[in-house]
Amino acid sequence: MYNSKITGVGKYLPENIVTNADLEKIMETSDEWIQERTGIKERRHIVKGDGNSTSVMGIKAARIAIARAGLEPKEIDFILFATLSPDYYFPGSGVLVQEALDIPNCPAMDIRMQCSGFVYAVATADQFIKTGMYQNILVIGSEYHSGGLDMTTRGRNISVIFGDGAGAVVMSRTTNPSEGILSSHLYSQGKYAEELSLIGPNTGRWVPEIMALNDPEDISYYPYMNGQFVFKNAVVRFAEVIQEGLEKTGWNSEQIGLLIPHQANLRIAQFVQKKFRLREDQVYNNIQRYGNTTAASIPIALTEAWEEGKVTEGSKIVLAAFGSGFTWGSVMIQW
Ligand code: UT7
Repeated sequence: MYNSKITGVGKYLPENIVTNADLEKIMETSDEWIQERTGIKERRHIVKGDGNSTSVMGIKAARIAIARAGLEPKEIDFILFATLSPDYYFPGSGVLVQEALDIPNCPAMDIRMQCSGFVYAVATADQFIKTGMYQNILVIGSEYHSGGLDMTTRGRNISVIFGDGAGAVVMSRTTNPSEGILSSHLYSQGKYAEELSLIGPNTGRWVPEIMALNDPEDISYYPYMNGQFVFKNAVVRFAEVIQEGLEKTGWNSEQIGLLIPHQANLRIAQFVQKKFRLREDQVYNNIQRYGNTTAASIPIALTEAWEEGKVTEGSKIVLAAFGSGFTWGSVMIQW
């Protein structure tokens, strides 16, 4: 019987810091509004021409994770790449990682589950390891949001929130059933697909068609979010799926070493913290510095927490996410 465990973590954030004060200069917003509603103080944005892209950031994070796992890239036998902002419409970004890391013929698969992408990817990798099919899997979450946001007052409810960055983990086989990924729980609800979405261009309406219309009202190529509706669903689903993980593992909330929620909004994380009566030191948040980096937010936070010595052998770690789809999920890890 095999189990999977995380053996290496890595992250990459672009150097360019965009503060709330910087945004005040280009749209009608305020540091006070952003901090009060979201907790965010600053985020990172790629500077066009700095050589970064979704896959490039993912590769940088991946190299660190692979080295920390004590492996060579060629020992990776599967790549999972979670993103909603791939380099190309197709193919996915995973194959670009495979080429850059020079791992011949290693299968690479993109996961399109938005904010829940990393949780879905970890759960998927876990299954491939448990069945014995693969031994070392590279899981990446990377997002380049800033190039596709409406940076005017019209898009402010979204554009102040999202940031760029990447995180990665290596998951490896263990024969110890009581360590590593103990359970994962995944859900989706397509009924609300359009409540948080980017619907144009799509296969029914390609770019030339949108451009030919030249309709200034058509902003379907920017992300749309029904913020309050998403918020209300998020707090319910986060709580449900964490509770399910606690029941499955038999842990109680006092035993949680660290809950690493997807960094969507500090208020959502605080709501969940209160719900499970968790202490400050049991929940990891870094949205203040990076904004919401969607599929990258959990691996960035996990890496940072690990680097700060907050994730150590024996820690009980809970990952949980909610986002566009709607999709949500949790992963329970005995580190
Ligand atoms: O990661 C995937 C999952 N995503 C989430 O979980 C996000 C969930 N939703 C949220 O985090 C919050 O709904 C937001 C942070 C997006 C918005 O906060 P809110 O408290 O729900 O504000 P709101 O959308 O109800 O807007 C309140 C007011 C509006 O003005 P009026 O109509 O009251 O005059 C907005 O136009 O705030 C205005 N507003 C802004 N003002 C300054 C919206 N965005 C901004 C802004 N700066 N950036």
